[in-house]
Amino acid sequence: MSTEHKATLSFTDGTPSVEFPIHQGTIGPDVIDIRKLYGATGKFTYDPGFLSTASCNSTITYIDGDKGELLYRGYPIEQLATNCDFMEVCYLLLNGELPNESQRAEFVSRVSNHTMVNEQMHFFLRGFRRDAHPMAVMTGLVGGMSAFYPDSMNLMDKNQRDISAIRLIAKMPTLVAMAYKYGIGAPHMYPKNELSYTANFMRMMFGNPCEDYKVNDVLVRAMDRIFILHADHEQNASTSTVRLCASSGTNPFAAIAAGVACLWGPSHGGANEACLNMLMEIQQNGGVEKIGDFINKVKDKDSGVRLMGFGHRVYKNYDPRAKLMRETCHEVLNELGLQDDPLFKIAMALEKIALEDEYFVKRKLYPNVDFYSGIVQKAIGIPVPLFTAIFALARTVGWIAQLNEMIADPEYKIGRPRQLFMGATHRDVKPIGQR
Ligand code: ACO
Repeated sequence: MSTEHKATLSFTDGTPSVEFPIHQGTIGPDVIDIRKLYGATGKFTYDPGFLSTASCNSTITYIDGDKGELLYRGYPIEQLATNCDFMEVCYLLLNGELPNESQRAEFVSRVSNHTMVNEQMHFFLRGFRRDAHPMAVMTGLVGGMSAFYPDSMNLMDKNQRDISAIRLIAKMPTLVAMAYKYGIGAPHMYPKNELSYTANFMRMMFGNPCEDYKVNDVLVRAMDRIFILHADHEQNASTSTVRLCASSGTNPFAAIAAGVACLWGPSHGGANEACLNMLMEIQQNGGVEKIGDFINKVKDKDSGVRLMGFGHRVYKNYDPRAKLMRETCHEVLNELGLQDDPLFKIAMALEKIALEDEYFVKRKLYPNVDFYSGIVQKAIGIPVPLFTAIFALARTVGWIAQLNEMIADPEYKIGRPRQLFMGATHRDVKPIGQR
């Protein structure tokens, strides 16, 4: 953080002016460091939704929302998605550098060693209703891991953080597959560690104990790309939740469970599920022909309908992940002979209309990653309610990298926002008969 310039805040209420340092990052907007504001003036800043607030400094992920650029540790997402696999991206996010061959082999071997979950987790799983939403199950199972791994609970111990990170990354695919198989009443498939991380996940999802599972490289590559594209996205709602939760010094499993819970919401990770439901609804109500009616509904503010998979707090241009996902969508549909998939046709037509419509152009609303990822996942055979759980699986590494960065920061403090209080001022409790 370099500090060359200063900002002066002046007041009309007689409070003396205050000067604040302006820090420059390596790229991106400068930040005004207002940490001394309260001490100097007795005033807070007010920024609900963090529209103008940088909550931390970070070296992990950079987004240029106007350009539509996404970098993990400086590497463009397009290069990572085409030249690396998810394990390499995990290594990069956790360690700051891409692995060489031996580092990669060692990392993969460590992760593979931890793919099984404690057998008792199956009993815990059985406590859920079979029709429970997978994200309800995942929130419970990930939080429940704190009860099984007491030797990696201390967030302040680097070795324990390291082992909990490997455990979480390794076990998330097993837990997601367990949640799925439990929901459909199918037998759990134990991991097969000779397979790659992603092929192993596909086998646990779609294999059964009676037959050999045949790995389809195109589908594995597509799923691996979904993992890469969702691995991190700087200070989004779930990542900020993980940081805030971990800032109290809780254990890593509890902090990641908080991230899973936050991700579930339809404005965040739940959007891919909501997007596919929207496409299916359009299909049921007349398909491509009726898209105009749907777009009119979206533009009518009273309808409460949004074009899911469109718009982003940071991207005011095409989300680079959406471009890569559209490419993967073509590959998967071709591989499965689904080129005429009606949902894909509806998505392409929606995108075309929305990109030309003044409502969307004026507000800089472009497709985000969720617009195409649901179609890919559905084609692969992932049931719609499981989409967000897959997102959680992929984002776990990003959450951990961000959490580790926060704890290692010498300026780390418990997160504790302040408020503008608008409620009742002091008043006295009357006896119940007089209220
Ligand atoms: N459809 C229709 N209108 C929209 C949409 C949309 N998808 N997104 C934003 N708008 C409109 C808003 O109504 C608002 O219009 P106004 O200025 O006339 O009031 C304007 O665009 C700005 O919208 P905000 O809600 O203020 O933007 P914000 O940055 O707070 O929201 C969000 C971003 C939540 C992603 C929003 O665009 C949205 O709800 N999109 C649909 C859900 C979605 O796809 N979420 C996935 C996000 S990516 C991820 O989590 C992986």
